[in-house]
Amino acid sequence: MPETNKLAENIAAIRQKIQDGAEKLDNSKAVYEFKKSFLDSKAGEIGQLMKEMKNIPKEQRADYGKAVNELKEWAVQLFDDMDVKLKEAELKRRYEKEKIDVTMPAVETETGNLHPITQIIEQLIDVFAGMGFEVYEGTEVENDYYNFTALNTPQDHPARDMQDTFYLSPEFLLRTQTSAGQIHVMENKKPPIKILSPGRVFRSDDDSTHSPMFGQMEGLVVDEHITLSDLQGMLDLFVQKIYGEGTYTRLRPSYFPFTEPSVEVDVSCFECGGKGCRLCKGTGWIEILGAGIVNKKVLENCGIDSEKYSGLAFGIGLERTAMLKYGINNIKTLFESDLRALKQIDDK
Ligand code: DAH
Repeated sequence: MPETNKLAENIAAIRQKIQDGAEKLDNSKAVYEFKKSFLDSKAGEIGQLMKEMKNIPKEQRADYGKAVNELKEWAVQLFDDMDVKLKEAELKRRYEKEKIDVTMPAVETETGNLHPITQIIEQLIDVFAGMGFEVYEGTEVENDYYNFTALNTPQDHPARDMQDTFYLSPEFLLRTQTSAGQIHVMENKKPPIKILSPGRVFRSDDDSTHSPMFGQMEGLVVDEHITLSDLQGMLDLFVQKIYGEGTYTRLRPSYFPFTEPSVEVDVSCFECGGKGCRLCKGTGWIEILGAGIVNKKVLENCGIDSEKYSGLAFGIGLERTAMLKYGINNIKTLFESDLRALKQIDDK
């Protein structure tokens, strides 16, 4: 039978042990482990004291139990207090560590923008899609027939000199104009036809306003009763959307083998409103594209009844449109990929 005095000593020793050990604890996890070593109901030292109960003489049992309970309550309170305090400090440290300075300047993320030519293509498609045009993309390698002959420009025609051609072979060439696409469309589709055809074209030409490779956007409408007024109506809408409200077009007689009559289209100067300035060279007008009523011979080459149907066509130079709209004076700016220049043009 254990001596009662010995047990009282035990209780005092455990209390001292807890007190000494607790002083050294500096985090809640250590408190948890330390607490377990005393208060775990099976392995804990205080739990062991409880188990001694059965060996205590009956008359002393109540006092012993009371003493052990007091120790237990004291220890539980001590550990709970420590736990609260340490957890508070730990949270504070964590907040400090994870603190975000909302006044810090944000890390800059670079955003790109579309190439000016792509922007122009998208704007043009947007304008003409609104009028019911569909997009047809042709091929850059064409044969002589589609690029010239079917467009009423046979082998010995003087108009071939207007377009210095890159020939790949006697038959194949790099298309000099998106007009070649007109023939493919008319061969494959019966009127009504309303297409827009953007793409690259190639000519042996190179100076500050010409490049051997450049972009065009062809437009073709074939239906009954198509006239020059339809053409001008569409182009007026186009210049208002691209060059600004209040601009309008004028048609001047011109010559293209595939249109009759052919016109050169000018837009009223959007810089000076028509009074005359450097951009319009004092004339109030800026030449923007070629167009006309599709030559009957071209319709017939594609098997379209030229008595029943008529057509209008136009060809817009993409670089020229971009240069005029964004004030670019050298076409090379559009091909050099110099971000300092290209980033300035973001025309959403
Ligand atoms: N293909 C012509 C050129 O490249 C532009 C052109 C003029 C296209 C009149 C047309 C048109 O469709 O009707 O110079």
